[in-house]
Amino acid sequence: MTTPAPIRVAVTGAAGQIGYASLFRLASGQIFGAHRPVILHLIEVPPVMAALDGIHMELDDCAFPTLAGVVKCDSDHLEEAFRDVNFVILVGSIPRKQGMERSDLIRINGPIFTNTGKAIQAAAAKDVRVVVVGNPCNTNCLIAMSHAPDVPRDRWFAMTRLDQNRAAAQLAQKSGRPVASVSNLAIWGNHSSTQYPDFVNAKIDEKPVTSVISDHAWLKGDFVSTVQQRGAAVIKARGASSAASAANAALDTVKSIITPTPAGDCFSAAVYSDGSYGIESGLVTGLPLSSDGRNWRVLPGFQIDDFSRSQIDKTVAELKQERDTVRDLLP
Ligand code: LMR
Repeated sequence: MTTPAPIRVAVTGAAGQIGYASLFRLASGQIFGAHRPVILHLIEVPPVMAALDGIHMELDDCAFPTLAGVVKCDSDHLEEAFRDVNFVILVGSIPRKQGMERSDLIRINGPIFTNTGKAIQAAAAKDVRVVVVGNPCNTNCLIAMSHAPDVPRDRWFAMTRLDQNRAAAQLAQKSGRPVASVSNLAIWGNHSSTQYPDFVNAKIDEKPVTSVISDHAWLKGDFVSTVQQRGAAVIKARGASSAASAANAALDTVKSIITPTPAGDCFSAAVYSDGSYGIESGLVTGLPLSSDGRNWRVLPGFQIDDFSRSQIDKTVAELKQERDTVRDLLP
């Protein structure tokens, strides 16, 4: 069997907790397959570069047969860092602290994504795909993609998969069914405290959630607010924002993009809106997606009842507000 060409994967904030929790899984063959060599591009701000040497040593010491190379780059040389990369996971950013909303970070983190977008356009491979994790990820994604107009819009994703996974765990626990029995679970809108985890279209064991869970007050109340507030709850309990679960969700996003979505299911990511479901175009918003392994589409036919509509309108209004706050960063 001939060995396929290596896939180059760049991770910014590579020495941070999310980066550290991602790299070994990316290198191990778990994400791109046991026969696909991976070259990792580890990117960090200059003061943290030394830590990358230690991570490089640990990657070597795992002796992963799939790890075909490691490139270390500082964020002052982003074009070098993104040279020929096929996947980019943008983690590098300041995390929020207890008591903050993710949108409070927008003027701190937003500017990072202008040069990032430009460098991706200038240097990445023609098939590059980008997953934005750094918060507020929807609007950071919008900023980055706006500075890379030659990179098609369908290559850009912001991470709502963490919310999908959180919502699936809540529904599984409430119904007493395994998490794998939950499907078709969309997250609409912003990765923020206004997001809408859509229990109306979700299923448990192929049946509507609303028929399996009779406590509809819980679905509309505690379920939605628990998912909306889960990131804050983790920060309060841990004294630091989610890391392992965020890394896991970033890698789940990559896998969902490159793997055909089973019929009757969807995966959640925020993408550039095209007007589907009455959501204004030109925002990066969570939508129900399906992939054929190469291309993805917004799944049609999701039922939007009055409750869902009001939730979606609220989170989309917040996205517009965030976009307006960073107008000066959008070319
Ligand atoms: C999360 O959802 O855990 C992350 O986006 C971190 C945060 O600030 O909540």
